[in-house]
Amino acid sequence: MFNIDFIFGASTASYQIEGSIDKDGKTSSIWDTFTKTKENILDGSDGSIVCDSYIKYKDDVKLLHELGVKAYRFSIAWSRVIDKNNNPNQKGLDYYINLCKELRKYNIKPYVTLYHWDMPQWLEDIGGFLNDEISNYFMHYTDVVTKAFDGYVSDYITINEPQCIMFLGHRLCVHAPGVKYNDKEMLKAIHNLLLCHGKSVKIIRKNVKNSTVGFAPCSRPMIPTTNDQLLYKKCYEEYYKLDRDNEYPNNVSIYSDPVFLGDYPKEYYEKFKDILPKITKEDLELINQPVDYIYQNFYSGTFYSLDKDNNLVKEPFPFGYPEGNIDWLQVVPQTLYYGPKYLYERYKKPIIISENGFCNNDVISLDGKIHDPERIDYINRYLIELEKISKEIPIKGYFYWSLFDNFEWNSGLKKRFGLVYIDYKNGNRIKKDSYFEYKKIIEKGGI
Ligand code: GAL
Repeated sequence: MFNIDFIFGASTASYQIEGSIDKDGKTSSIWDTFTKTKENILDGSDGSIVCDSYIKYKDDVKLLHELGVKAYRFSIAWSRVIDKNNNPNQKGLDYYINLCKELRKYNIKPYVTLYHWDMPQWLEDIGGFLNDEISNYFMHYTDVVTKAFDGYVSDYITINEPQCIMFLGHRLCVHAPGVKYNDKEMLKAIHNLLLCHGKSVKIIRKNVKNSTVGFAPCSRPMIPTTNDQLLYKKCYEEYYKLDRDNEYPNNVSIYSDPVFLGDYPKEYYEKFKDILPKITKEDLELINQPVDYIYQNFYSGTFYSLDKDNNLVKEPFPFGYPEGNIDWLQVVPQTLYYGPKYLYERYKKPIIISENGFCNNDVISLDGKIHDPERIDYINRYLIELEKISKEIPIKGYFYWSLFDNFEWNSGLKKRFGLVYIDYKNGNRIKKDSYFEYKKIIEKGGI
């Protein structure tokens, strides 16, 4: 069981659920643009309707209420609440205010992510994260949102998965905006993104009474296959290591060290010495604003062992172990044990799992229901590990990804992570078996 004050929640993100992409003064985001090129998305779909949450938000809240969660993590579409002249768009703000009012009616706490990847296209057009003014735009956006939500929201997450923003959006170019950065540009963009975080935290602290603030990276922990102490140490070091060459935008320490420890890792300065952006002491202080939690999105891990010379070796994923219906999602429950353990060991802050979930090829059965025993199994296995580590370090909450099936970025609509099935033909929402299982777990307070 978890502690009595453990937060059970569910997560979503604006572009993935809202639809209504051009209503009430919303401008285009980079995902509206990216999805116009059908080849960018596996099934050619887009976010124009998805769960229709812009219209059906009251139904969303009813589903959350019946599920029994204490918290709902959703994100704000920047392009809904700020117009092209950088002024507030009241109609867009009203949508989120109404959502919060509805949540409060049922005693569900909103956890608001400010940036879950959907940059307004007009900001991308003037350079996006390469524009040195971007952190000031983000600060202004934070100011507008926190003032408008005064009294409704006290818990904020600045940025979701900086790794995916940079690695998928600007290196592999399989996510919006699909604009490739060279190394010099990449480092500058990462620094600007971290400044967005820092300046935003300052504004949240100024505008919001009793606020909590965090930053939500993702990671794929190295899982030791034995109890050998040396293996543990090497896995830990590998988790934070910066030198996986082309993949550094996907690393943990390049983002989290400046945020939680106040500086980039030592190897950063060595590795990139000829192409470093300008980094001042003031910048680092700004980025290192005190935060309350390490939020982290964890889905899967990779097994490691030692060879006869005590070198770390990656183990293939064992044949016959369960896997999700998306190529990167191997079922590795120890992810929720070792991931938090590594994070706490280095950063010493309470941890909230901001995303964890399973992708399945769900179908409506003859009885009209959705039977998803694989997802039920995943949730149970992962929460057992989380319970275990919560006896050793402070784990404050768990948000299942996702409340609904939704638009899974470049994989489109066919990849389903939800507790609630969306029938995209008619918009029907059907609670899956896993919805009832998670409800039971919440009622019990654990596994
Ligand atoms: C995360 C992302 C979510 C969701 C999830 C499942 O990387 O933050 O938006 O798509 O993965 O793939």
